[in-house]
Amino acid sequence: MHVKIALIKIVQYIKSVYNTILLYLSVISTLMTPGTVIWKLFGNRKGKVCLLNRDLICDSKTLMNLPKCGKPLDGYTNALYPFLPTFLLDNNQYWIDRRDVFSYGNNLINKRIFDISFDFELKSKQGNILWDIFEIISKYSFQLVFNRLPTDEEFNDIYSGLIDINKIIKRISSTPNIPIRKIFYDRILKLIKDNNENFLFHNCENFFKMDEIHQVSSVAEDFLTTMAVQCTDLVCHMLILYSEYPEDFENNFENSFNETLRLYPLTDIWVRESSNNEKGWIASLVQLNRNGWSQPNTFNPQRWDSTNHPPLMSWGFDVRRCPAQKLATNISRLIFENIIHKNQFWIQPAANFQHERTFPYGCQVSLGYGDKPHDVKLWKFNNKLKMQFQRWLFEKLRMIDQNELN
Ligand code: HEM
Repeated sequence: MHVKIALIKIVQYIKSVYNTILLYLSVISTLMTPGTVIWKLFGNRKGKVCLLNRDLICDSKTLMNLPKCGKPLDGYTNALYPFLPTFLLDNNQYWIDRRDVFSYGNNLINKRIFDISFDFELKSKQGNILWDIFEIISKYSFQLVFNRLPTDEEFNDIYSGLIDINKIIKRISSTPNIPIRKIFYDRILKLIKDNNENFLFHNCENFFKMDEIHQVSSVAEDFLTTMAVQCTDLVCHMLILYSEYPEDFENNFENSFNETLRLYPLTDIWVRESSNNEKGWIASLVQLNRNGWSQPNTFNPQRWDSTNHPPLMSWGFDVRRCPAQKLATNISRLIFENIIHKNQFWIQPAANFQHERTFPYGCQVSLGYGDKPHDVKLWKFNNKLKMQFQRWLFEKLRMIDQNELN
């Protein structure tokens, strides 16, 4: 009996060594993100795959059957330093206070979204539009929080910080620019201290009871950064898909929106450390959103007409689920519809653009108004390989830095 148990353990150990080496080598040797590599390697497998230090959770049913745990999903990130985003805080008093304050701001912004008039037009362009959209949404986010447009000086201080954060998230650089972050921090602190009557938290006592770092972080990270970074990516994904499936977006926005998020979730992997004798785990959002679906890699909004399918995991699960789903949906939809409904708008991805979950070379498109030029499909952007390699390098550096796959 003892020999049998020992043999089973040895086989399990060999399997976990094999799976871990396979995963690491594949992640290092391809240009894909770890989450996409996991989907390619383990596809529709059910349950858990044993790795040396963690279990890989392959499907949403297994994930949701895990014991409930309020711990943060990632232990550590340098992307947002010196801020402390809510999703990194442990389930302690700080997290409860920040959640409470977030919920106050979230409700108020949801009321402001449709009251604030916000007019803009994306300029006709051939090139990367990600930063153009990022700038538009950053300005709009400022307006939602402070109920007015920023002055040029305010916007410069804040926008440079937002770009710096997004560049690390996008793996365009690997370390934060501390002087720029400091200017961002100080500007937000000044705006908080001004406490203008239209400031989001003007009447929120609990906000002003928090420590300075939490006040600044709540405004700068939980709201401004998250709205700008997340909604920009989502709008870019929708625009790329819209170029191919305009009728789907016009006829049924909700279905197309869900399908966009299913194929292109904004998070790559979730990692949770071990706790209370539970083994730590890792999960790929790409895998969770495709495992168990028919034709999983195809954009098919009609699949959402039925309820007979696994759940959409892109908003998270459990107690750490995204508290801003309504807000994020409303902002992204508003910006997206504003763009596509202007003067016979058209958009065409570059001939050498591949639609991936992240934007390693930006969102490279031709866009304009009126008649679409006949030769527009021929345009290619330059330096693709260089940009891919740069992203690969910074991604690996960040994986080591963040212990993402340990
Ligand atoms: C645009 C699409 C968005 C998606 C798909 C999304 C998705 C998610 C997911 C999956 C999580 C779980 C944690 C993680 O993955 O690291 C999360 C957490 C969170 N999200 Fe979102 N999010 C979006 C936009 C936003 C926006 C615009 C805000 C802020 C206004 C926001 C605020 C938060 C907060 C505060 C948490 C932490 C919750 C906690 O741990 O208590 N999200 N989001």
